[in-house]
Amino acid sequence: MAIAHRTIYKNVAAALNLQTKDDYLEVGCGSGVFMKLYASHVHSVAGLDHSEDMVKLSTRYNQNRVDEGTAEFRHGDASEVPWEDEKFSAAAAIATFMFWPNSLGSLKEIHRVLRPGGRLVISLGWNADDGIDHTKHIKECDIRLYTGKEVQAMFKEAGFSENFITYSKGFGMPRIMIASAVK
Ligand SMILES: C[S@@+](CC[C@H](N)C(=O)[O-])C[C@H]1O[C@@H](n2cnc3c(N)ncnc32)[C@H](O)[C@@H]1O
Repeated sequence: MAIAHRTIYKNVAAALNLQTKDDYLEVGCGSGVFMKLYASHVHSVAGLDHSEDMVKLSTRYNQNRVDEGTAEFRHGDASEVPWEDEKFSAAAAIATFMFWPNSLGSLKEIHRVLRPGGRLVISLGWNADDGIDHTKHIKECDIRLYTGKEVQAMFKEAGFSENFITYSKGFGMPRIMIASAVK
């Protein structure tokens, strides 16, 4: 795992504070490595990704839990989360939010599948508060960068009752944004 990712994972894990009773959803889960490293103790894990290859990879990477029925991985877009209302107690989106074309609609979907009191943590390694000129990244990677204020406004509009933003320093990322919200 890249050093930059390790710092982000540690920050997300600290903000999520996953407990054994949690049912955890990761949106844009990629290979599912975060949940393997930081969510092995929770009651259940679920991953969503819009890449079929990533769904296969995360399933393989978490095969033991899939076989015992405490993990599942589904294919789909963050704006249409394919689980029922109030299924999860915690959710995260790590290094993926900046790619989502319908960010507000996706937050509303995550809000829908969280139980009352459920937590959401989003990491934004690159963001509009970090002081970097991202012009090239935006063009090359087709991403959208947000300020903390914009994320907080979206959390509110999506229905979250509390939210807060913290920043920390990571390798090559001077101001990683960790955005947390509670339903
Ligand atoms: C940089 S990777 C991060 C993967 C993982 N969260 C991690 O930190 O290891 C971004 C992931 O988000 C997924 N993704 C991007 N846009 C998405 C969307 N709109 N809905 C669901 N997944 C998406 C990509 O397929 C990719 O697996």
